This record gives sequence, C-alpha cells and structure tokens, in this order.
Amino acid sequence: MLAPGFGHFRANFMFDLVIRNANLPGGRSGVDIGVVAGKIAALGRKLEGEAGHEIDATGRLVSPPFVDSHVHLDSALSLGLPRFNETGTLLEGIALWGELKPKLTQETVYERAKALCFWSAARGTLAIRSHVDVCDDRLLAVEALLRLKTEMAPWIDIQLVAFPQDGFYRHARAEETLRRALKMGVEVVGGIPHFERTMEEGRLSVRALMQIAADEGRLVDMHCDETDDPLSRHIETLTAETRRHGMEGRVAGSHLTSMHSMDNYYVSKLIPLMAEARVAAIANPLINITLQGRYDNYPKRRGMTRVKELMAAGVEVAFGHDCVMDPWYPLGSHDMLEVATMGLHVGHLTGTKEIAACFGAVTDAPARILNLGGYGLEPGCHADLVVLQAEDEMEAIRLRAERLFVIRRGKILAQSAPRAAVVRFGDEVREVDCTRRNVPVKPR
Ligand code: FE2
Repeated sequence: MLAPGFGHFRANFMFDLVIRNANLPGGRSGVDIGVVAGKIAALGRKLEGEAGHEIDATGRLVSPPFVDSHVHLDSALSLGLPRFNETGTLLEGIALWGELKPKLTQETVYERAKALCFWSAARGTLAIRSHVDVCDDRLLAVEALLRLKTEMAPWIDIQLVAFPQDGFYRHARAEETLRRALKMGVEVVGGIPHFERTMEEGRLSVRALMQIAADEGRLVDMHCDETDDPLSRHIETLTAETRRHGMEGRVAGSHLTSMHSMDNYYVSKLIPLMAEARVAAIANPLINITLQGRYDNYPKRRGMTRVKELMAAGVEVAFGHDCVMDPWYPLGSHDMLEVATMGLHVGHLTGTKEIAACFGAVTDAPARILNLGGYGLEPGCHADLVVLQAEDEMEAIRLRAERLFVIRRGKILAQSAPRAAVVRFGDEVREVDCTRRNVPVKPR
C-alpha cells in the first residue's frame, strides 16, 4: 500500500533507509517505512525496493520524535550553583536563580544547554520549546541560546520564548529587554502574571504581552497561575485576550496549577472557554508535583492542572519537562517518557485511551502547539523517527523504554543497546527486558 501522490515503487527502487516491521502509535503493526532524501516516502506492508540501509524494528514501536514543549535551557544543569534549593519552593528557586544570574557567562549557559541537547538527542527528543529569561540587561542567555539554536538546527528544532522571569512590570526594564530579545530572534512571547506585584498588574501584564504578540504576529506561551492559590485566574484573561485578538490556536498557558485548587463551578465555566479559544495547556508533571503543595499540611495538594478534564473538553494538552537539574528541580535526564509516566500517575490517566493521550502529550500535541512543520508519520513528513524497545505506547511509558534508534532526516543520530538482564532460576534461564518478549534461553 503506497501513499497517493507518491507512486508505486518498483522492485529496483532505491530507498535511502527502510525500517521494517514497525508498530506505529495508534495500533498499526507490520509497517515498513521507506525514506528518501530525509523524508518519509512510503509506508506500507512489505515495501518493495532496495534500501541503502535497513533497520529491522522486529515489531517494536516506531514513533515520531518526542517534543518538549516547556523547558528552561538557560538554567538547565546548573544544580548546586550557588547552592541547593532546600525548601523546594518556586519562590526559593526564583531567588536562587536571581543570585546565580549576575554570575552567568554566555559560554557557561551555552555549554550547559548544549550538554542538555546531547541528552535530548539520546532520549529521542528532537524538538524543544525553551523559555529564556529576558530580565537581564546583558541578554547573554538569549545570545547563548540563539547561537545554540542555529548550531543545533540540523539535529534538534529549538524554539525560544521571551520569558520575563522577574515580572513584566515587577522588573523595571522587562518590556525593553523583552522587545530586544524578540528583535534578536526569539520567536514566542512569554509572561508570568502570577509573579507580578498584584493581581491587577498580573492582568495588565497579560493584556500588554498579548498586544505585543498580536502586533508582531507571534505565538504566545505564558507561565500562568503557577501557584496553589485558587483565585489566581490569569488564565481567564489569557483566554479572553486570545479571543479578542483572534489568536485562537496560537496561545498556550503553561503550568495552570491554580486550576487544581479552583472551585469546581468556576472551572466548569473556564474549561469550555479555553476550548472555544483553542488555548493550549502545558502541564509540567515532574515540577508541578514537587513545587506545589509546599504550604499545605495534610492533605497536600498535588498541583498539576486538570489534565483529564481539559483533554475531555478537547483542549490541546501537552506535558513539558520544565526543569532539569536546576534551582527548581534537582533531578531529571530530559526523558519525556519519564514526564509522561508522572503525568499519567498524577492525573489518574490509566484508561487505555488516556494512556495513549499521555504518549500524545509528549509527541503529537506539543508538535501542534509548537506549530512544527513536517512532523508525523505520513508520506512527505520529515524522516524523524524513534525506534523504541517497546511494542506500544503503554509499554513505552511503563518501561520508559530504551530508544534503540533515534533518526533525524533519515540518518541515525543516536543509538542505544537494548536493555536486558539474564536471570537464572536454577536451570530456567531467561533474558529479561520486562517486555512481553521475555524469551526463554538455553540453560548455561
Ligand atoms: Fe517553566
């Protein structure tokens, strides 16, 4: 079966690469993927034609790459500088970052962010939306990440968000530095309304930033309501401004943790408004579960936004990693399957469709939010693929499956050996990888 418009491939047709016998997300199995000139040329059973290179997926899942829709490359891997966040709160994290910021150099930010890109490629994460702090007259993090974005372009798509970490109004020159960052090449408008001095200034910051985005034709992604305060309702303003400017489908609210604590009646009105305005929600499960609820006794709120209800209402929901070893979070390895696992658990998303949606929240959904071109598993899409040591999405999440091959534009970018242990119960010996394939082998 060949795609319309791509013709029939003769037996002597030459593919650059064919991946044989793949399972695809959504349930298709036994599929061959033929690649020509960095793009998927054909998908079908037993593709005819020669291949410059073949990979036998042996019935394992082949997915488009993981997409991290929310991370901070400028703070990544700075853990312990100048000290650890001992309270684990958002506010100590912001204070700590404020201590580190004057000591940053462009080179150290660049080197740490580049080190993270190596981890990302190893984990099959080939598109990243990174917020970059613009509350710094030197804008050295902006310069460092723009340089990295250019250098990484052959391998990883990096999209940058101008993020006024210290507040659009709270920081005296944030508007000027944010506009400068946009001129330098940062693409997306960010914000942090819950960190402004008052609710009113938070609301006004959303209006001002949406006006900038509307004037310049930018996408928007604001840190929004990252608090346990149920009265933090800046998402309502963001949603209304999205409609007012006709920016449906171009705006995302990140975190939205106050929704966890909001009154149910209010949320029953809010979520349909978000769906109507096509405002996307980006939850960050690893960070939300650790930063939120810090001022509670018991029961402690878990903080993550209402993913199940947002998904049910048709709102686009993605999961981001947010922080990797920085002032806000000491752990992580930029593994989006770890993120999906946490999102699934915190959100009670254990139904079969919900588990598939958790996989989608680190692949298809963020690709749509980032407006990535050529993403997917159809003829004509970029040949950006990940062969996982798992048979389906549920198994991939359950095992945080090894990424056996990470392919970018039809070429192998990263490769990992399959995970396995040999277990001996007397004479019964099995090679165990905790998939359903635990194959009995001969006694040794
Ligand atoms: Fe963030």
